[in-house]
Amino acid sequence: MTTEAFGPRRLGTSGIEVSALGVGTNRWGGRGVAEPDLAATLGASLDAGVSFFDTAEVYMAGRSERLLGRCCRKDGRPVILASKFAPYPTRLVGAQFTRALDATLRRMGRDSIDLYYLHFPYSLVRIETWMDRMAGAVGSGKVRAVGVSNCNVSQMRRAKDALGRHGVPLAANQVQYSLVHRKPERDGVLAACRELDVALVAYRPLGGGLLQGGSSSGDKRALRDALALIAGKRGVTPSQVALNWLLCQDAPVIAIPGATKAAHATENAGAIAWRLDREELAVLDKASAQLS
Ligand SMILES: NC(=O)c1ccc[n+]([C@@H]2O[C@H](COP(=O)([O-])OP(=O)(O)OC[C@H]3O[C@@H](n4cnc5c(N)ncnc54)[C@H](OP(=O)(O)O)[C@@H]3O)[C@@H](O)[C@H]2O)c1
Repeated sequence: MTTEAFGPRRLGTSGIEVSALGVGTNRWGGRGVAEPDLAATLGASLDAGVSFFDTAEVYMAGRSERLLGRCCRKDGRPVILASKFAPYPTRLVGAQFTRALDATLRRMGRDSIDLYYLHFPYSLVRIETWMDRMAGAVGSGKVRAVGVSNCNVSQMRRAKDALGRHGVPLAANQVQYSLVHRKPERDGVLAACRELDVALVAYRPLGGGLLQGGSSSGDKRALRDALALIAGKRGVTPSQVALNWLLCQDAPVIAIPGATKAAHATENAGAIAWRLDREELAVLDKASAQLS
């Protein structure tokens, strides 16, 4: 078995590096999720070298941004924070973009955000127009790097070209990618990220919990069995194997498993320090091929 850690990964050519794994916070601020537990989740992540946190204005109606900002300020250690602008159909003019960004910064208690995404491309406003506004926010110092999310290859290229006219790189495309959802391999997004030097930030990397438990049958059971077998042999957990598989797709992939529990954050961070070998990757590829 090979042993090789996954070091920091670049957010495209933005000049920003992040840990190969981040933490998704879309459940922060949800019912039954207590702030001390979230502070512990953040602390456990940072203890383990994971310092990239993902939120969005729409997560729990802004509570995720507020809690993430507060936990980061209380902890005090350096972090890289990403949030997202939602281009709702009622959002048309530049002032609405600026107001949304300012509200995000206010909730997070910061003067600037490290990575600001266009959350989805479905909008009455052209992607080029949103990217012009994003570039303006970089110019004003409120945003360090610009990303898109849920974009296909053509939308990615349009975003990159539009930003390029302002001298701003496209840093990332955040899309769903996991052993149960391998669409980015088929629709060209992974290849385009490699070609254009754009990070692929993989959301729902644990299949939203699908890979951990609950009942499953047929193909899903085959994948869960393969994960358990490899995990058992290595003395790691199935979740760690699933995350390690993503990191083995190499740069540009960065995975952001969601966590509201410190134990989960610590476990997930344990996927960084080793690498699946070729045989194990082949077993997982085969077991997941029917699913995704
Ligand atoms: N751009 C987009 O449109 C978009 C869409 C969806 C998600 N996202 C982002 O991607 C992040 C991750 O996606 P996701 O949260 O939907 O799915 P996920 O990361 O695949 O799964 C998260 C779920 O797995 C659990 N979990 C985490 N680590 C675990 C472990 N080691 N063992 C067992 N269970 C574990 C979490 O539980 P606990 O909460 O109990 O720790 C949570 O219920 C989100 O938080 C969000 O930031 C973006």
